[in-house]
Amino acid sequence: IRLTIHRSLALWAVAFRSSLRASCTVWALFLSLILLLGNTTDWIEDYSNIQSKFSLRHVEFPEEDVCYLVPGEIGTVLDCNFKPDAQTFLVIHGWSVAGLFESWIHKLVSALFEREPTANVIVVDWLDRASHHYPTSAENTRLVGRDVAKLINWLEGLGYPLEKLHVLGYSLGAHVAGIAGNLSNNKVNRITGLDPAGPTFEHADTLKRLSPDDAKFVDVLHTNTRGSPDLSIGIQRTVGHVDIYPNGGTMQPGCSLQNTMKMIATYGLYNMDQLVKCSHERSVHLFIDSLVNQDQQSLAYRCSSKEAFYKGLCLSCRKNRCNKLGYNVNKVRTTRSAKMYLKTREMMPYKVFHFQIKLHLFSQKNMALENQPVKISLFGTRDQRDDIPVVVPSMITNTTISFLVTSDVDVGELLILKVQWETDSYLPSFFSTNEFNIRKMRIKSGETQAKVIFRPKDVEFEDLIQGGDAVVFVKSKEHEQSKREAR
Ligand SMILES: *[C@@H]1O[C@H](CO)[C@@H](O)[C@H](O)[C@H]1NC(C)=O
Ligand SMILES: *[C@@H]1O[C@H](CO)[C@@H](O)[C@H](O)[C@H]1NC(C)=O
Ligand SMILES: *[C@@H]1O[C@H](CO)[C@@H](O)[C@H](O)[C@H]1NC(C)=O
Repeated sequence: IRLTIHRSLALWAVAFRSSLRASCTVWALFLSLILLLGNTTDWIEDYSNIQSKFSLRHVEFPEEDVCYLVPGEIGTVLDCNFKPDAQTFLVIHGWSVAGLFESWIHKLVSALFEREPTANVIVVDWLDRASHHYPTSAENTRLVGRDVAKLINWLEGLGYPLEKLHVLGYSLGAHVAGIAGNLSNNKVNRITGLDPAGPTFEHADTLKRLSPDDAKFVDVLHTNTRGSPDLSIGIQRTVGHVDIYPNGGTMQPGCSLQNTMKMIATYGLYNMDQLVKCSHERSVHLFIDSLVNQDQQSLAYRCSSKEAFYKGLCLSCRKNRCNKLGYNVNKVRTTRSAKMYLKTREMMPYKVFHFQIKLHLFSQKNMALENQPVKISLFGTRDQRDDIPVVVPSMITNTTISFLVTSDVDVGELLILKVQWETDSYLPSFFSTNEFNIRKMRIKSGETQAKVIFRPKDVEFEDLIQGGDAVVFVKSKEHEQSKREAR
């Protein structure tokens, strides 16, 4: 009962902060009341060893540290204008080379405010412990996690509901979030891991890294998981309820060495670290995209492997097989965490539209060709997208092939499809006799879940000739399974 009284008092005080602040007398009275009533664990907790700083950002100055919340000092809740009835985001940075906040922090803070203008956005500053050699900083996640857990327990002790708390951690910060979530007295509502760090965490015990037990819902974006598990910058294994691997999770579009060199040429050498960071940090920008470009929501699809996804075999939304990437994710907790995939553009907005193209390759001649370059053009009710390059892994006589095509343009409902088989040899096309008869194509759209059959116009089949002209297919009236599946 004591606890309840003191909590409601605290909340009441915070809610009426402005009227209270003016009156020192009322404030003193209130504090003594709390001290009289409150011999609860909140007040036994030792806050003196907290080294991390909790900067409550202001919607008008999202880049600046204007006020710090200090666990144990209730005055800071009032002074910083922490809103007890609003949603709270805790943003946790990762390893720091320069000992400074990286530019993504204020971009994320601004995006959070853009989406939820009344929210409390707290940036956890653990730069002191983050700017050591990587292994030391990685070890420090435990200490920082404990600090953050104390902040969470303190806020909860003041009556703040943890259902309104969303913790976001990037790189090492994702593991800080996980540890904090596990050390806090009760589960926080959501943790988002933005490319959680890989080295020393890939095989670590669940208590030392982010895991699905750390919050009621844990969602994770994996964007830089190249190389062997121990050397990968981002963690390769699944660590949440929903683990999304954009572009396969290895390297992000626009992050190639060539692009980085271009950036360095344009902006100078200080952008050198972009080479390492580009794919890693893409996780943050994908999340920002989901906050600010709500009308261009990216979808990810559950799949057994990256290879199957690139064959277009996983564009189903049945039984929660697809989900929204980022802020608007559906909080589905499957018993076994499954990997989800999608492709993206190389810049914001990142959304692309996914199509599976399935067709049968008839021929009298036996052929088995690998990695064939094909160009697909899509024409729809809204727009068109020409010459999308695709490499078809294998084309074998009298087999059905399936592959994934993505368009950065929303063509609307697909009406016409053009396919051109390019030649991969130096020989002029008249030396090539490779051709397949195509009678129909089955197209499935991931975004609309529509399944449509395409056929040659006015003829029974088209000859798809290596190095030849594009062949055209039009939407057929037959609607084998065109019924749109409910999401
Ligand atoms: C507060 O509670 C602790 C144990 O829960 C007890 O040891 C201590 O004496 C109490 N203090 C006051 C002032 O009641
Ligand atoms: C902490 O982690 C352990 C082991 O994974 C789990 O059993 C426990 O429920 C977690 N506690 C909280 C509060 O998340
Ligand atoms: C492929 O199948 C068609 C009809 O199904 C058949 O006529 C043709 O001979 C087959 N091609 C080969 C190389 O077996």
